[in-house]
Amino acid sequence: MVKISPSVLSANFLDLKEQIEKLEQAGVDMWHLDVMDGIFVPNISFGVPVIKSIKKYAKAPLDVHLMIDRPHRYIKEFAEVSDYLGFHYEAGSDVAATLKEIREYGCKSCLTIKPCTEPEEIFEFLPLCDMVLVMSVEPGFGGQKFMPSALPKLEKLKEEIKRQNLNVELEIDGGINAETAKLAVNAGASVLVAGSFIFSAEDMNACVDSLKNGL
Ligand code: DX5
Ligand code: ZN
Repeated sequence: MVKISPSVLSANFLDLKEQIEKLEQAGVDMWHLDVMDGIFVPNISFGVPVIKSIKKYAKAPLDVHLMIDRPHRYIKEFAEVSDYLGFHYEAGSDVAATLKEIREYGCKSCLTIKPCTEPEEIFEFLPLCDMVLVMSVEPGFGGQKFMPSALPKLEKLKEEIKRQNLNVELEIDGGINAETAKLAVNAGASVLVAGSFIFSAEDMNACVDSLKNGL
């Protein structure tokens, strides 16, 4: 069954504890944490101290999405508070070395691609990945519209993962709602990130259910 990873960026931070509790009861599988540095993306979010507090309270694994320039400089710090740790192919680090380092710290490694990157560019790194994240919006902000160009990328990655006989999860992030979730899962996504769709819902339980079971 597809996994749901709510993007905390869209949460009400004053109410975070209650929202975490409610959504874990609704059956979410991990927590997606968007770290932005104002350089790699034109927005600034949160860093290690906020994630550390969430880690103390949340039961589901933490899926940390680094949108920072030259992420290899911060892998150690973030690995201490992450379960899945991902960074961008385009962010200026040695990709293979950074993926290996993440695994050495005991985290699941995740390589992320922006809408401008073709999946073939990362095929050689798949054996070092536990998960690949395909962005279906330009990284930086929640609440944007899903880009269908992400779908053939999922298909190509799924095929290549099979061809190389690997076990790599495929995650999609940006503009996911009940409809786009269906498209993404049909194209091969096994983990759905959703921010505004979940946190703006009146009934978050029904919303998670529509993502998981409305397929
Ligand atoms: C965008 C972030 C996303 C974002 C998703 O840069 O990586 O995780 O919060 O938000 P929605 O689901 O609203 O597009
Ligand atoms: Zn994200």
